[in-house]
Order: sequence, then C-alpha cells, then structure tokens
Amino acid sequence: MDKLVMTGGAPLKGEINIAGAKNAALPILCASLLTADPVELFNVPDLQDVRTMLKLLQQMGVTLEFPNPNDRSHLILQAGTISSPEAPYELVKTMRASILVLGPLLARMGRATVSLPGGCAIGARPVDQHIKGLKAMGASIQIRKGFIVAKIAEPNTRLQGNAILTDMITVTGTENLLMAACLAEGTTILENAAREPEVGDLAELLVKMGAKISGIGSDRLVIEGVPTLHGASHHVIADRIETGTFLCAVAATGGEIVLKNCRPDTLDAVLVKLKEAGLKMKKGADWISASMSGRPKPVSFRTSEYPAFPTDMQAQFMALNAIAGGSSRITETIFENRFMHVQELNRLGADISIEGNTAIVEGVDKLSGATVMATDLRASASLVIAGLAAQGETQVDRIYHLDRGYDRMEQKLTQLGANIRRMK
Ligand code: EPU
Repeated sequence: MDKLVMTGGAPLKGEINIAGAKNAALPILCASLLTADPVELFNVPDLQDVRTMLKLLQQMGVTLEFPNPNDRSHLILQAGTISSPEAPYELVKTMRASILVLGPLLARMGRATVSLPGGCAIGARPVDQHIKGLKAMGASIQIRKGFIVAKIAEPNTRLQGNAILTDMITVTGTENLLMAACLAEGTTILENAAREPEVGDLAELLVKMGAKISGIGSDRLVIEGVPTLHGASHHVIADRIETGTFLCAVAATGGEIVLKNCRPDTLDAVLVKLKEAGLKMKKGADWISASMSGRPKPVSFRTSEYPAFPTDMQAQFMALNAIAGGSSRITETIFENRFMHVQELNRLGADISIEGNTAIVEGVDKLSGATVMATDLRASASLVIAGLAAQGETQVDRIYHLDRGYDRMEQKLTQLGANIRRMK
C-alpha cells in the first residue's frame, strides 16, 4: 500500500492547474449510457474513482477511446449497445457513486441490477431517495440478495414523468432522477433538488444531448422527457474541492500560489472563510491567487448543502484551525461520522474534541510530524495539509483514499515546492 512522506515547514510557492471535478465527471460518465451516440468529454480528472467508473461502464459494453494516448482527460464513450445493465458488488463496494448507473440504465434499457452500496466510513448513506423517486416514475424495484433489481413495470413502455419531492437534499439522488427523467414520458418535477455546481454541469451536458431541462442551478428542476438523446461534447467543470484544498494548504504553510483553470464563483462560502482565516486572495473568472503570512485565524462554520459551506471541505479546514491562533467550532450536518480525521490530527499534536456533531478545535502553536492513517478521501487531504504545516516528518498511510479523488496531488504539491514523496 502506498504512503506519502512529507517534511513540513516549506511555504508553498508557484502555479498549478486545477483538474476537472470528480463529482461532476462521475455522473457525466454515466450520462453516456443514455444514448447510442458517442459522448466526447474534456477535462476529465485522472483519478481512481474515474478509472473505476470507466471499468464499470466498459463491463456493460460501453466503448472507451482516448483520442490522444498521452491525454487521459480527453475521452470518447459510446454506449452503442448495452450488453449487461448490471453493476456488480465488487465495483460498487469500492465506489458508492456506481449507484449513478441506475437511473440511466432503467431509462434507456427498461431494467437494471445494481448492487446495493453498503455503509461507508463517513456515514450510513442510504439510497432510499433514489429508489423512491424511480418508483414514483413507474419503476418496479425490489431488493434481492443485496441487489437493487429495477425494471419498468409495463414492458415496452418508458418511465413516466411525475412530481418528486425528496425527503432531504441529495446530490447523487438528484443526478440519478434527473438522468432518468430525461428519457421518461411526460414531465418530471424534481423539488428540493441539489444545487451543487456538479448537478448543474451534468444538466448542461444533458441539454447538449437533447434533454429539455429548466431550472438548472435552482432547487426545482423541470424535465420534459424526450424519446431519445443524441451525442454531445462537453468540458467538465473545474473541481471546487481540489481548489479549496490547495487554498487551505497555502493558508496552513504560508506562501503564495496561483491556481489556474478553476472556478472561483463556485466557492463563495469557502472563500469567505479563508478570508476570515487571513488568506489574501485575488481572482478572475478562471484563476485565483492566494498568499498567506503568519498564523491563521480560527474560523467556525457548519457544513450544509450548496451554496453553503461544503462537507467536502470540512476536514481540510479542521487542519487549518488546528494551528490557528484561537479556538473554533466546526459542526458537520451532512454526514453523521465525518470526524475520523480528528484522532489522527490529535496524533500530530492538535487539540480537538468532539461534542455530538461539533468539533471544538483549540489551535496549537505547532503540530509535530508522526505516522497517521488516512480514513477517507477528504480526511486524507486534511492529514496532508497538517503534515505540510507540521515540524518534522509525517507519514500518511493508506493514501489509496486520496488517490480516489485527487488527480496527482503529490506531484502538484512538489511543483509548489513541498517536500513530499510517495513510497510504495
Ligand atoms: N441520504 C439519504 N438517502 C438517500 C440519499 C442521501 O438518507 O437516498 C442522506 C445521506 O446519507 C447524507 C445526506 O442525505 O446524510 C446527503 O447525501 P447525498 O446523497 O447528497 O450524498 P452523495 O450524493 O452520496 C455526494 C458526493 C459526496 C459529497 C456529498 C454531499 C458524489 C459522487 N459524491 O454524495 O462527495 O460529500 O454529495 O455534498 O457526488 C467526496 O467527494 O469526498 C464525497 C464524499
């Protein structure tokens, strides 16, 4: 198993490119199942979850081409025929986002068998809302031997549009129902829809493919179903969480960096908190520069759905608060178990305690290097940030979690002058 070894203390300096968003690329790859035509994608991040999704789609009969073998961010998918509308346990257990094939398969093929994702490190994460919405569109769905077995109740008919109000805001739930609704008969209204920019990016691709969607970017999506969709070409939106992660890193280490190919307009809540922490920033439409000197100020926040502060940035801010000059409170409202990094940060000398869904962080002068273990994707990023700010050497074990969601993180950090290396 790979690990990252870093020596803290070096301020970050230089320029890097931000990759396409993992959480936009994953549903977008699944949208290729909705048409027999080719779908051409640019700015796809090269990371493990994307490779897993491509493998899953290929198993179903989707063809994959990289027009330029040296550029894995540009690819063409074609679901001419779908030989097997199934997502096996082996792949779903490694990546919950595999559930995103359910809506498209059901809408295009009239049936789908998808392994039920289990619980995961950050919470129970059920998919009941995905199932409830598809049932409301006329699907018959049973759970058999750990699989979601779905089919359109009446043979040779399409899903039926309906008004769907989810019990809570769910990102992949909205995406699954949105994709299914595009090929349904009649109008679907998704109330309480997730407004995350990744949902909007998927919707924009679907419109290019011939879908009729209004309300993009709002919490009410109205989809007029069409019988077929066609091919399209799309550039995946920049990863706001990767952007925020590097900004937290420079806020923790000090220095001056420029992030290119990013979308600062998707990061308002994060930028407000970074400014409060003392990070100086300038931004344009697709770049942001940031500089930091001195110790960060503590920032308190609660995570919530977009456009509020994202749960996917909570752990990285915890690392920053760990070395801030004062105390802060971080409340996690999206996932019930997303504080696994706390114990590991404390191993580096942080002073963090948990009360229910709130972490109380007493900033310390210095963290000191130690061996720590990554427990999930964003927790890993938080440990890397802490390690870069700590005195001495930090070893982060189990970084396969990090590789799932960051495109060449340690290479980018090296480019910014960090003393970090991967060990096999
Ligand atoms: N929920 C249910 N039932 C459902 C669906 C969701 O109870 O049917 C609950 C979840 O358990 C959770 C809350 O609703 O407590 C919100 O979950 P959501 O469905 O929005 O999360 P997700 O779609 O599974 C996506 C991202 C996550 C990100 C969350 C929240 C993808 C592939 N994943 O997950 O990303 O944290 O939205 O913004 O888009 C990450 O990138 O590190 C990551 C975990």
